[in-house]
Amino acid sequence: MSAIFSNNTDVFASIERLLKRQVEKADILRLLKVTGEFQQELFRQARAVRAASGADKVHLRGVIEISNYCQKSCVYCAIRAPNKNISHYRMSVDEIMELAYKIKEFGINIIFLQSGQDPKCVDLMEEVIPRIKQELNTTILLCLGEWPKIVYQRFYDLGADSYILKYETSDPELYEKIAHTPLSGRLECARWIKEVGMKLGVGNIVGLPDQPFESLAEDILLGVALQPDFVSVSPFIANQDTPFENVPTGDFNITLNTMAINRILHNASLIPTVSALEKIYPEGQLMGLNAGANVITINFTPPDYQKKYKIYSKDRFVVTHEHALNIIDKSGMQRVQV
Ligand code: 5AD
Repeated sequence: MSAIFSNNTDVFASIERLLKRQVEKADILRLLKVTGEFQQELFRQARAVRAASGADKVHLRGVIEISNYCQKSCVYCAIRAPNKNISHYRMSVDEIMELAYKIKEFGINIIFLQSGQDPKCVDLMEEVIPRIKQELNTTILLCLGEWPKIVYQRFYDLGADSYILKYETSDPELYEKIAHTPLSGRLECARWIKEVGMKLGVGNIVGLPDQPFESLAEDILLGVALQPDFVSVSPFIANQDTPFENVPTGDFNITLNTMAINRILHNASLIPTVSALEKIYPEGQLMGLNAGANVITINFTPPDYQKKYKIYSKDRFVVTHEHALNIIDKSGMQRVQV
């Protein structure tokens, strides 16, 4: 009994220090492990921060996965360049615009363009970004990989608002092992994205092979240091046709706890409840909203392309508009009105 009480006191004290911005790794490590009623307390505090920061309405994003070509060889991802079992596609400007119109018709005001690291997508942006801005006037969010600073500058000048470049892990050795490029280069890109004027999204993956538990706290601390506008976390999902195809799924509770800690540390930031949560646990995305998230990404990639965009395995959970509205309703939250 007394052990429970002392644990209780410790958890409360850890949350209290985070709320006061006395950010200690030991507290984050303790909170990452909480379960049961302590976890519920962490989630309650995260929701309180979200409400107090005016961030308790849900933003919907519409994602279009515009190309599955990728120059990188990330070991966890099936659209990696060395995967020969992939049938490639790249959408045309007209295809992208048609889907962008569809997103807008659904009343969604954030058009999210994602692809592998594909130089031809950089060229496509020359036409796509100005057209979306002029014809639809929505927010444009990009997730197109690592580029020289002038490319990010160009995206911004064309009208892009924000860019997601997750660091996946803060551990430089592990990063290089999983991505085959240095973490320092990726972090430099993240700084450039902010410097040119775009909003920045970062994030990590929970459950990579050989990921030290301590590094999960460092991932959160790196997020704080970068001062991003969006912070995301996803459980690791094994992809077929990758060297990690038999690795177990990342821990669901540690992922939710990371989201709640991120909410406490980032106040009003956008924190998505990712589709991978739904894939590994029934109503997992709803639990993400309860842990402090405030963004849902709805997938507008047509089914034929979706099958080929094999990030998160062939049987990934694809978020529909109906599913998103359903979990918002169940969470008791409301949508941001656009
Ligand atoms: N498991 C978890 N997250 C993944 N991502 C890609 N593949 C996986 C996977 N197998 C995430 C990465 C990447 C984003 C586009 O999707 O964080 O940055």
